Order: sequence, then structure tokens, then C-alpha cells
Amino acid sequence: MPVLFYTLFLLFSWSLCTTAGAVTGAFIIELADGFSLQSFHDNAKDLKYTIRHTFDKPGIFVGLSVTLSERDSPSDQEERLASIPGVNTVSQVVQYEVPVEPVKQVSSLDHQVARSLMKRQDDPGNFDFTLAMGGVDKLHEVNIKGNGIKVGFVDTGIDYNHPALGAGYGPGKKIAGGYTFIADDGTLVEGPDPFANCSEAHHATHVAGIVGMEPLEFPEGFPITGVAPEASLYVYRVFSCQSPGNGGRGGTNEMIMKAMMKALDDQVDILSMSLSLNDGQVSPIPKSDPVAGIAQKLHDAGIAVSVAMGNTGSPNAYSHELHTQTLPSELSTVISVGSIANIRFPLVYSNTDSSGAELHYASIWPINRPDGLDVYVIEGDGCDSSAWENAVNFVQANGTLNNTIIVYQTTDSCRPQEAPCCRETAAPPYILAADGNNTNVYNMDYESPLPDRFNDGATKAYTMIPPDSVTLLSNYQAAGGFGNYKLFFSSNNTLHPKQRVGGEPDWFTSYGPIWHTYELKPQISAPGGHILSTFPLPLGGYGIISGTSMATPYIAGCYALVKSRFPTLSVDEILVLLQTTASPVTWPYNEAMLATTAQQGAGLVNAYDAIMAQSRVSPGQLVVSDNNRTTFGVVNFTVENRGDSTQTYTLGHRGAGFINDLLNFMEMVQRPVYGSADFPTPTFDLAPGAATQIFATVIPPAEADAQKRPIFGGYIDIVPATGANLSIPYSGPAFSPFNTDYITYIPADANGERGQPAIYFVNDTNGERFYDIGFVEVNRTAQYGSLLNRIQWTTLWRVDILPANTTIPAHRYGANITVPGDYVYEGSADPLAARLFSYTSYGNLFTRTGLEDPGTRVFPSGSGFTVTDDAGQQRTLGPGDYRWYFSVLRMGGDPGQLGDYDSWLGPIIRFT
Ligand SMILES: *[C@@H]1O[C@H](CO)[C@@H](O)[C@H](O)[C@H]1NC(C)=O
Ligand SMILES: *[C@@H]1O[C@H](CO)[C@@H](O)[C@H](O)[C@H]1NC(C)=O
Ligand SMILES: *[C@@H]1O[C@H](CO)[C@@H](O)[C@H](O)[C@H]1NC(C)=O
Ligand SMILES: *[C@@H]1O[C@H](CO)[C@@H](O)[C@H](O)[C@H]1NC(C)=O
Ligand SMILES: *[C@@H]1O[C@H](CO)[C@@H](O)[C@H](O)[C@H]1NC(C)=O
Ligand SMILES: *[C@@H]1O[C@H](CO)[C@@H](O)[C@H](O)[C@H]1NC(C)=O
Ligand SMILES: *[C@@H]1O[C@H](CO)[C@@H](O)[C@H](O)[C@H]1NC(C)=O
Ligand SMILES: *[C@@H]1O[C@H](CO)[C@@H](O)[C@H](O)[C@H]1NC(C)=O
Repeated sequence: MPVLFYTLFLLFSWSLCTTAGAVTGAFIIELADGFSLQSFHDNAKDLKYTIRHTFDKPGIFVGLSVTLSERDSPSDQEERLASIPGVNTVSQVVQYEVPVEPVKQVSSLDHQVARSLMKRQDDPGNFDFTLAMGGVDKLHEVNIKGNGIKVGFVDTGIDYNHPALGAGYGPGKKIAGGYTFIADDGTLVEGPDPFANCSEAHHATHVAGIVGMEPLEFPEGFPITGVAPEASLYVYRVFSCQSPGNGGRGGTNEMIMKAMMKALDDQVDILSMSLSLNDGQVSPIPKSDPVAGIAQKLHDAGIAVSVAMGNTGSPNAYSHELHTQTLPSELSTVISVGSIANIRFPLVYSNTDSSGAELHYASIWPINRPDGLDVYVIEGDGCDSSAWENAVNFVQANGTLNNTIIVYQTTDSCRPQEAPCCRETAAPPYILAADGNNTNVYNMDYESPLPDRFNDGATKAYTMIPPDSVTLLSNYQAAGGFGNYKLFFSSNNTLHPKQRVGGEPDWFTSYGPIWHTYELKPQISAPGGHILSTFPLPLGGYGIISGTSMATPYIAGCYALVKSRFPTLSVDEILVLLQTTASPVTWPYNEAMLATTAQQGAGLVNAYDAIMAQSRVSPGQLVVSDNNRTTFGVVNFTVENRGDSTQTYTLGHRGAGFINDLLNFMEMVQRPVYGSADFPTPTFDLAPGAATQIFATVIPPAEADAQKRPIFGGYIDIVPATGANLSIPYSGPAFSPFNTDYITYIPADANGERGQPAIYFVNDTNGERFYDIGFVEVNRTAQYGSLLNRIQWTTLWRVDILPANTTIPAHRYGANITVPGDYVYEGSADPLAARLFSYTSYGNLFTRTGLEDPGTRVFPSGSGFTVTDDAGQQRTLGPGDYRWYFSVLRMGGDPGQLGDYDSWLGPIIRFT
């Protein structure tokens, strides 16, 4: 965990935001073994607090959460609580949200893809396409449907009256159990009934449908099935009907802990948590979150937890994306899930216009107006609110508002759901977003605004894309505009056209891997973009929404299928099966390249192969990095032949997108720069029942520049002569973290360019800085400063003051440009009371320990060098000649070994 990085953000966030991140003055306290809640109250007598929640589950979590009345800084409050006898850990109360698709922020730097007006295939087939993406349809054919498995959800309330969800609640029903920790209005009322059918309850109703919905026939519903329709579902409600950001929203980590404990009591097999800290925002991230401890307990109890990776990606090929994982998806004990766009848009209907053209529009339910609707097209920008007002007022004055469909044009910067309809006017019943000139691949598919997005549902929004939207706009013009052009709606046939980015990562899906450990997150992906599932009945019963929220229950469902087939496999073993049989997918901005493993993990899940594969491979993911000081990229994995005949295996490697953490301007975030793999035995045979361990070396791409902290990744393929192909995803630094430079080093030159690292002093007379590029003579009380730039993670860095004639070796040396020709060393009278390794030193000027990220900017400065010697004595150095020794411990290095540091011996400083 990048602990310090988190701390810095916390301090920053304190003044800025209390509702979206940490909850002001609220803490979760875990008590040590043997301490009771009463003992806490007795010991905390002189503290003013109110109790928020209590936890009394010995072996899992005993403690409470409180709100403190005094308004100290959070770190002071934390310290006060931590000092109370019996208090084991103190953590801030933080707010989680459900990560559904945020509004697209498309910048002008978008990668433009030539627009094709080719008609997409309108496929009237069945509704199995989303299940087919993950091989689930084939499992349903052989009756593997999750029977006997319990899937839990920590989410909003749910509308369990929905006929596709079994129309009921309780033992024996599809929604077999659950609990609520909050009421619709946000009051903290606990009880056994998680029902809600408000607009905010669409989330749980949708994710539960992805796992468990039953097919219905039109017009009651749609013939669409969940991933594990025979599983029993348990819904633990932690969000109210208040909208995100409201005080009564719920979703704090305390409530999530309680929900997870309930799931433990109910002995669910997998808990699906489509939620993330602060809706995927990286800041503020708490130092620790007790949810992690509970997740570990669930894992130990054999309960898997699938978690949404988060939705902080952007529809832009040039923006920085790496390492945006957050809690709880970054926990090693949970399965974090990325999102892949649905292969088809789930619901499109056809209609005709008064010029005889056949058009198509996206909608949940078909429009039934065989008599036709007049068309009014808003000229220009579909997000212009005065244009909207004028249009609606005009049509209303015309007396035809109920018989008119208002068409607005969308662009990369005006998406269908952003239309400002209609604050100051009557609510038009029908509005249609006609895709205008979108050039970003991620803006070329149909969209589906939420059913109550406009005027609380009084206005229904539909979308249309080229070529139909272009045809509509030109036929409207040709016919003479409003009053002369109509659209006729009579077809109820559902179509499912292919999506432009179908089967590829969704734009919003957040990137890992975990910073500095390179642990792969997300671990696997599933369909999550444009997913049709159940909605609360008052909202129409169905909805199409997008998010890693939607991919997460899909993986929970796949897990349930595997678990139902192999009940004795552990959480980790099932994850390995899912990962090694998943299929890597390509990146929409470069379809010749597999998307980075940092975005898709193992790739698109294939539950059929996970269950049916006759070969097993383990582990499910690899970190490729230093093995030790001299070796990089040696990995091992096992291959097991579970079939009944000898199998020949061929090993291979596929590279995936390469990413520089420090991107240049207009550098594409993912690039086809690949490593390679060396296999001592590229093909081998295994007898039935036999297993073998394979060692391989993964070599990073030569092009990598360690100073940009590049991440590379790919897949090690294990291809049996018969049966499903297996692969192991990996990610890692494209350089040796131990052997790279930790210090930015730029040589100084005689023209006065100071270079880096640099030490400067401030001229007393004119206040100007002057840099030491070899030798300076300066009053020992002068102000000094430094520029010591670290570019990698470290756990220790320091500055020591040595005599200028030291013989200590360094990786780099300061310039000696200004050393006078007749320079003679002048020793200091101060004692050499410290040792730096075996070299004498005056003492330490500055030390930082603990994990520090490369961006931590701390530059030692002051007036006079006050050092600490080995006896702990502080001393301000007098006249004499000194040098700085700046050393940064390499990752994996031993603090006691000089050779394990990157180091710089500075120029001469003569104090007078
Ligand atoms: C409505 O608009 C049409 C087309 O502009 C026009 O022909 C018609 O007279 C208008 N009707 C009313 C009642 O304003
Ligand atoms: C338009 O339709 C709405 C909803 O059906 C109805 O309440 C309203 O009276 C209608 N208005 C007119 C002018 O027909
Ligand atoms: C789309 O582009 C065409 C041609 O460049 C232009 O005439 C039209 O106004 C544009 N439409 C929108 C909605 O921007
Ligand atoms: C479409 O469905 C609606 C609602 O069930 C029904 O009223 C209408 O007759 C159907 N239209 C056709 C063409 O089947
Ligand atoms: C470094 O790791 C490699 C691969 O695990 C191993 O073969 C080698 O012996 C190790 N070297 C040292 C010095 O530990
Ligand atoms: C094999 O790889 C695992 C990590 O996947 C590692 O922990 C283990 O030490 C490796 N085994 C050997 C013998 O190198
Ligand atoms: C400090 O500034 C004064 C006034 O500009 C100048 O004369 C002197 O040389 C400077 N000292 C150093 C050490 O640069
Ligand atoms: C150094 O600066 C201090 C404070 O300005 C002054 O008192 C002292 O005389 C200076 N010493 C020398 C050697 O210039």
C-alpha cells in the first residue's frame, strides 16, 4: 500500500470535501481481543462522541464507529482514539458509490477514427448475445445454471416484485434473503427487507437481474436470461433512495462491513459488490479501510468477493490512465472486474418516415404510434438550452406537443443524456437524439438514457445513429421541415445491431495495475457496457446501463456456475480457472493490438471453457519484475492434463498494450510495444493426470525508457493440441526496478546550467539563488535549498554531510566546473561523529523512510546544516569544506548495503 501517498491526499481532502469522501469526524474503531464495547465507553469517558454503528462479532470484528464532537484535524482525532486502551485500529469512515457510467468528458485530443456510414447488421435473433460473449449460453444448454449456489449483493434496495426476479422475497424465492441497513429516506433503520423501487433502486435491481433474471415474453418483459438463473440471491441494502452526494445516501464503509458480515452469516458463496470508494475517484483514499479485514475473513471462509474495478477511464486515446485502482477493488483478496462493451446493442426497433425510408431507433420499449408523430428538429447544438426552450414552446403553441417527436443533434461533446430538456417548458413526451458528427469510436453506438432522466420520466428519450440519423435529417429538410415530415412507429420486433466497440474494453473501465507492486488489477473482464437487465417496475421494468458495476455481477454469475459444477474448489482455484480460460480482447483505438492487461486483466471471461477445459494452468496472473538483484522476468507456472489421453502443449507469448506512466503530449496511452518470452521447452507432452512446472523468462521491450516508468504486459499462452487455449496474463515494469536510476541526473554545464541534482544558496545582498556547480564559498548561515528529484518508488532516502575529501563511491557525481585550480581542502573542526557505511560523516541532514511514491516532492532546505550524528546528537556545522551525499534505496535493496542505493556525491560547499 502506498501509505504516504494516501496520507498526503487525506490532508488535502480534509478541507475540500466531506460528503463525497471521508465523513467528517467519523471513525471506525476496532477493539483488541478481550476488550468489550463497554470497556471502550469506560475508557473513553473524557471524549465527546456519538455512536454510529456497533460491531460485535468476535473473531471477525469487535468495535464501533463514532462521530467525535470536537473538530480537531482528522489525524489528531485518529491519534486520540488510538491512544484509548483496548483500541486496536482506527480508520476513517468513508463513502462508497456504485460505479455506473459517468458522463463522458471527450477532449479535443480525441483519436479520430474515420466514420463509416456502413449499415450495422440488424440481427433479429434471440437475446443470448451477452451470455454468448462469456460462453454462458452453452452452459445453460447443458443445464449448468448455478443451482444450489448463493450469490449476495451489497447494493441499493431492490424491486423484488419484478416477475423476472421471481416476484417475491424470502426462502424458496429467487431473492431468497437479504437485509437492509437504511430506509428510502436515509434514516438508519435495520431490518430484514431490502425492498425499494425508487429510481436509485435501479442499480441493485439491474445487477441482480444480470445474475438471476428469468426470460419473459413481450409485452410482459423480454426473453433474456441471467448468467446463473438457478442461483439464490441475497441483497444487502446499504444505499437509500437519496441521490449520490446527499447526506442520507448511505454506503459508508461501516455499513458495507455490516453487510459483508450478514453475507458471512448467510453463507453466500460469492458476494458481488458493484461499488467503489467515492465513485472511483482516487482522492481521498484512506490509509486503511477495515473493509479489507472483513474481505479477508470472507475469503478465509471460502466466500469470493467480486468488486467493480471503477469507472475512471476516459474516451480518449491520449490521456493518462494508469494506476487508478481504488478501494475495495485494489484489495488482493477480492476479484476486481473490468468492463467490456456488449457485442450488440440490446434493443433497437425499426420505424419508417413519411419519405418511405426505414429507420431504426434505440429504446427499451417500442413506440406505438402507427398514426405517426410530427418531427421537429432543433437546429445546431443539441445541448443549447435556449434552443430547447424555443423549440418546445413553439411546438406547444402549435398544439402538437403530444404528437411530435423533438429531434436534437448530438456530437462528441453533447451526448444524448446531456440534453437540457426541459426546465422552463412543458415536458415533451418524445425526444430523439440523432447522432451528428461523432468521430470518437466510443461515441458511435446507440445510447440509452435512464428512463427517468428527463422530467422524471414524463419525457422518453430515444437515440438514432448514422446512417439513419443522417437520412432522417436530410429527409426532414427535403420534405420542408416541421409540419411536413412524420415518423411512423408500429413494429415491436426487437433488433440487436452489432456495436462498433462491441467485445472491446469500455472507455470507462479503470486501469491498474497496483502502483509499485504491479499486481494485476482488474483481474478479469466481463460484459458491462450497454447491458439490458431488470429495472424497478415503476421505471418500466427494464433498463440498459453501463459500468464496471454491470461486469461485476456477470463474473459473480460465472463464479456461481463454476462453483455449482466444482463445489470443492476454493475461491482462488475458481478465479484461476476463470482467468486462464478468458480471452484477451483488442483495443478500439488500435485493433491490431491487444488492450493492455492493466485495463482488461485476463480478458473476457469464458465460463464454458473454465468448466470444460481438460487442462489446468496455474497461477491465474503473473507479475513480471525483478526476481533478485541480477535476474529479471523469470516466472513459473504449472500445467496439468486432466484429460484421458496424452496431450501435446505448445507455449507461446502475445504482447498487449504498453503504457508509459509519464506520457508525452499526444503520446497514445497504449502502444504496440511488446516484450517476448523465452521457453526452454516450447512444446511438451503430458500423460493423463500428469502435471509439470514450467519456467520461462519474460523479456521487456528494448524500447522502454525506465524514467517514464513504463508498464508492459501480455499473455503466456499454453495451447493444448485439443481443447480450449489457456493463457496467463502478466503485467510488470518494462525495466528492472532494482537496477534503474532512482535519481534524475542531468549534468551541469559551464554555461551556468545547473543540472540535477542541485544545491543552491541565497545571496544575502540581492536575494538571488546561486547554484553550486563545483565549488561555492558561502556564509554557513546562508539560506540553502535543493533539487533532488526521485523518479521511482523507494522506502528510504537520505542526505548526509561528508567531508569534501571523502572517498565514498557514488553512482553519480556533482559537477566540478567552478572548482578553483588552486583548490586546497579545508577541513572542518566539527567531529566526524557518524558513519555512512564504512565512510566517516558529520551526520545526517535528512531522512525519509516508509514507502514513498515517485511524485513526493520534498527538497531539503534551511539555513545552516544541522546534522544528527550516530549518537543522536544534533550539531550545526561550522566553517570547512563539505559535500552532500544523496542516496535513495533501490526497491528490493538492503538498507545496510551501499551498493543497493542510487547515490549522488555533490559539489564542494565551503562554509565560512
Ligand atoms: C403549426 O405549425 C405548422 C408548420 O409550421 C403550421 O402550418 C400550422 O399552421 C401551425 N399550427 C398552429 C395551430 O400554429
Ligand atoms: C398530452 O399527453 C399527456 C399525457 O398523456 C396528457 O396529460 C395531456 O393532457 C396531453 N396534452 C394535450 C394537449 O393533449
Ligand atoms: C456535421 O457536419 C456537417 C458537415 O461538416 C455540418 O454541416 C453539420 O452542421 C454538422 N452537424 C452537427 C450536429 O454538428
Ligand atoms: C406492439 O405492442 C403493443 C403493446 O403490447 C401492442 O399494443 C401493439 O398492437 C403491438 N403492435 C404490433 C404491430 O404488433
Ligand atoms: C535470482 O533469481 C533467479 C530466478 O529465480 C535464480 O535462478 C538465481 O539463482 C537468483 N540469483 C540469486 C543471486 O539469488
Ligand atoms: C514460482 O512462482 C511463484 C509466483 O507465481 C513464486 O512465488 C515461486 O517462488 C516460484 N517458484 C520458484 C521455484 O521459483
Ligand atoms: C551577491 O550579490 C552581490 C550584489 O549583487 C554580488 O556583488 C555578490 O557577488 C553576490 N555574491 C555571490 C556569492 O554570488
Ligand atoms: C554570516 O552571516 C551572519 C548573519 O547575516 C553575520 O552575522 C555574520 O557576520 C556572517 N559571517 C561571515 C563570516 O560573513
